[in-house]
Formats: sequence, C-alpha cells, structure tokens
Amino acid sequence: MESGQPVFEAIGLTKKYEDETLALDHVSFSVRAGEIFAMLGGNGAGKTTTINLFLNFIEPTEGEARINGIASHKDPLTAKRNVAFVSENVMLYPNFTALQNLDYFSRLGGKTQYSKENYHAVLRRVGLQEEAHTKRLRGFSKGMRQKCGIAIAILKDAPAILLDEPTSGLDPQAGFEFIELLRSLRDDGKSILMSTHDIFRAKEVADVVGIMNRGKLIMQKHAAELAGHDLEELYMKYIAGHIRDAA
Ligand SMILES: Nc1ncnc2c1ncn2[C@@H]1O[C@H](COP(=O)(O)OP(=O)(O)OP(=O)(O)O)[C@@H](O)[C@H]1O
Ligand SMILES: [Mg+2]
Repeated sequence: MESGQPVFEAIGLTKKYEDETLALDHVSFSVRAGEIFAMLGGNGAGKTTTINLFLNFIEPTEGEARINGIASHKDPLTAKRNVAFVSENVMLYPNFTALQNLDYFSRLGGKTQYSKENYHAVLRRVGLQEEAHTKRLRGFSKGMRQKCGIAIAILKDAPAILLDEPTSGLDPQAGFEFIELLRSLRDDGKSILMSTHDIFRAKEVADVVGIMNRGKLIMQKHAAELAGHDLEELYMKYIAGHIRDAA
C-alpha cells in the first residue's frame, strides 16, 4: 500500500437499525498510518456503531467502512486480518493465565511463531507486573485485563487498531500509561481509531478529534487546530449548536 493512503476510511457511512433508529448518518473520515483519531460524543451518538461497522459485526445501510482500502462488508475476512480490536470489556479466558491467553489468541489468529519470551516481552511493554504473567485472569482487575487485551492486539501486528472506550474504568495512572502505550504504537506506524468520553485524554493523544452527535460527525479537527483551544468548551459549543440547528 502506498504511504499516506488511509488505513481507516469511512465513506458516507450510514446505519439504520431494524427498528428504524438512524444510528449513523453519512459519516466520512479517514485515519492514516501513524495517526490517532479519537471519536467523542454523548451516549448513543454512534461511536460503537462506527466501530462495529469497521469490524463487520453489523452491515452498513449505505456507504462503506474500509480498512486498508478493503470494504469490511464486502471482504470481511481480509478486512479483519488488518485490524486488531480491543473492546471496553475485554473478553478473555478467566481460567487461563495471562501467558496462556496470549498464546491461545495468537494461535487462533494464525500466529504460531511467538515464544514464551515474546509473550513476556509484550506483557512487560504493556506494563503488566511480572508476577501476574503466570496468574489466572480470574483475579485480574479491569486495568490488568485491559493490558492483556492490548498485548493480544499488539501480537496480532495489524496495521489498524480499533478501541472502544479503552480508558473507561481505568485509574488515573493506568489511563496515563495506556495513553503512553497508544503513543508508542502510533510511533510504530499503527493507525488507531478509538472512541472515548475522556475529552482531556483525547486532546492529549489524538492527532485528529471528531465529535459525533446523533449519528453525525459534527466536528473534525487536527491537533494543530485544537492547540490553544479548550476542547471541553469546543465540545459543548458544537453539541449545543447542533441541538439548536436541529430544533
Ligand atoms: N442493535 C441495535 N438496535 C437498535 N438500535 C441500536 C442498536 N445498537 C445501537 N443502537 C442505537 O444506535 C444509536 C447509536 O448507538 P451507539 O452504541 O453506536 O452509541 P455510542 O456513541 O457508542 O454511545 P455510548 O457512548 O453510550 O457507548 C443509539 O440510539 C442506540 O440506541
Ligand atoms: Mg459505545
């Protein structure tokens, strides 16, 4: 793929659920390699719907969600090979240790080349304390499970990373460390699309911030355009403006 091509691309992405809820209304954006795009927006704005469309968990009513140029609903297998997903509630095996979970999910994804040392190394990278590597996940805190989830995503070594509210429920230090980790993945050339309710962290880490409201992307700005602005104020202004316009 030519450099500078979008890794994530939403083109007129529209989703109307069976009950006629218009969850997404012609949303378009792109995220390149080495870029973090943070989606902000209130409950029900359409963030998870957007993520689920990229993963082909649901089909678009109109438009396309492309990963590396591949429309997710047309070639889901290839599209999914190019993306690693970390959900808010990481689904891992409670009876397996951290190492066993990494091994299981890597093999499931067709990666058989990793050694035990590779697993230890990635768990160190995500900041999981050494003694937890060989413990069953059953007793892990949310932050520890999140670290295992992102470790599995790193091992998948996909160019695209999708995260749905990755820092929700993490304590301040874990949230900070997670953001540092996203930065290092971005520096490795990954393209990252995440949803979050954390305006402060979004401003801190994102190269582009998008604000969604009732299925529409009502603001999209690069970090440089946001510098010197209070993103929280901007967020309130955009949402209020959108509600006014809709009235
Ligand atoms: N399976 C579904 N069937 C019908 N409507 C749905 C379905 N999933 C989501 N919706 C609706 O679509 C809209 C967008 O929901 P979505 O989950 O994408 O929002 P979100 O931005 O992720 O919200 P939150 O911040 O609460 O996670 C909401 O009105 C929601 O009720
Ligand atoms: Mg959501």
